[in-house]
Amino acid sequence: MTPNTIIRGDCLKTMNESKPGSIDLVFADPPYNIGYVYDKYRDDRTDDDYVAWCTEWMRAIHRLLTPKGAFWLAIGDEFAAELCVAAKRDVGFHLRNWVIWHYSFGQHMKRKFSRAHTHLLYFTRSDKDFTFRDLRLRFPSARHTEYQDLRANKDGRLPDDVWNDVPRLCGTFKEREGYHGCQLPEALLTRIILACSNPDEIVLDPFVGSGTTAVVAKKLGRRYIGIDMSANYVKRVEQRVKAARQEINLPEVDPAHPPAMHREILYQIYRETNVTRDNLLANRVAMDVVAGSLSHRTGTEYTVAQVETLLRDGTLPKLANDRAFVARNHVTDEGKKYVRTVQRMLPRKRKSRTVADTPGSA
Ligand SMILES: C[S@@+](CC[C@H](N)C(=O)[O-])C[C@H]1O[C@@H](n2cnc3c(N)ncnc32)[C@H](O)[C@@H]1O
Repeated sequence: MTPNTIIRGDCLKTMNESKPGSIDLVFADPPYNIGYVYDKYRDDRTDDDYVAWCTEWMRAIHRLLTPKGAFWLAIGDEFAAELCVAAKRDVGFHLRNWVIWHYSFGQHMKRKFSRAHTHLLYFTRSDKDFTFRDLRLRFPSARHTEYQDLRANKDGRLPDDVWNDVPRLCGTFKEREGYHGCQLPEALLTRIILACSNPDEIVLDPFVGSGTTAVVAKKLGRRYIGIDMSANYVKRVEQRVKAARQEINLPEVDPAHPPAMHREILYQIYRETNVTRDNLLANRVAMDVVAGSLSHRTGTEYTVAQVETLLRDGTLPKLANDRAFVARNHVTDEGKKYVRTVQRMLPRKRKSRTVADTPGSA
């Protein structure tokens, strides 16, 4: 497999013929075995055959990954449990998170609750040594925005494992390519690729579909490889990827006129923060976190004043929470100082935790 290509073919065969230990991150969103109609693939295996097939290509992924590599699996309710067990027990992956991606406007049902989520299983090859760049994920938490808690971490907080801040791509969205019913939003892949890989590393999507993983990898300055068995999809993805440009970690960026992706990332931080523009602008502690997180995510140093201008000028996403911000503990107009205090804790029994699991205040 050559980096920066989209390959037409069977992913299992292609991966098994490739060099082991050569891929840093794999994102796989396979057919869910629910009878979905694709261009080439028939989505109706028997249950046993489906689980056996998935186990085989997950084994191929495990072999391809570098020792620090990660594997994300997007999967529906029908097979999430079985594939999680297969990935851990049969293939040898370590489960880091079982993320629920919750979105509004799932398909409406009449005889059961409407489904409004997808499972995102995050695995690593090693249980101790893996790439996870937490500073690229942080946002102002309720400690910063709601409670103005003096213990709030100055870098912000990491998202929980239920993600409801990334909307599903509806048919009317500008981002929608229109030729693939399963197109995932770029914001979802942006979070995963920023967290689990570094610039120039190789990101593989063995079921590339409409090409979201490859496009986002390119915009984020990673090398990409996509595989799909449909020549039609591959041709479209090649065009989509060709039109994309690297937009982060650029040597020179004018923060007053940033690349489009910087604004999208800022709007994503705004969605994560979930307080209205005026409330956010009034809250210096939260704004420090936003500027820091935008800088970490984009590789460009942004000041609070520059972020303020981008937020004032931008058309921000709509939020549900519009309560007025009343300053209490943070730096206020009266000049009250923000002081970080640390909660004293009993000594921790370290045996059962890895360093990466240690909780902190955020
Ligand atoms: C759920 S879609 C992926 C959608 C993608 N995540 C996106 O954002 O557009 C699954 C894709 O896997 C492809 N596929 C199915 N079996 C395959 C195989 N054995 N090798 C490669 N691609 C395959 C299908 O053609 C389909 O495009």
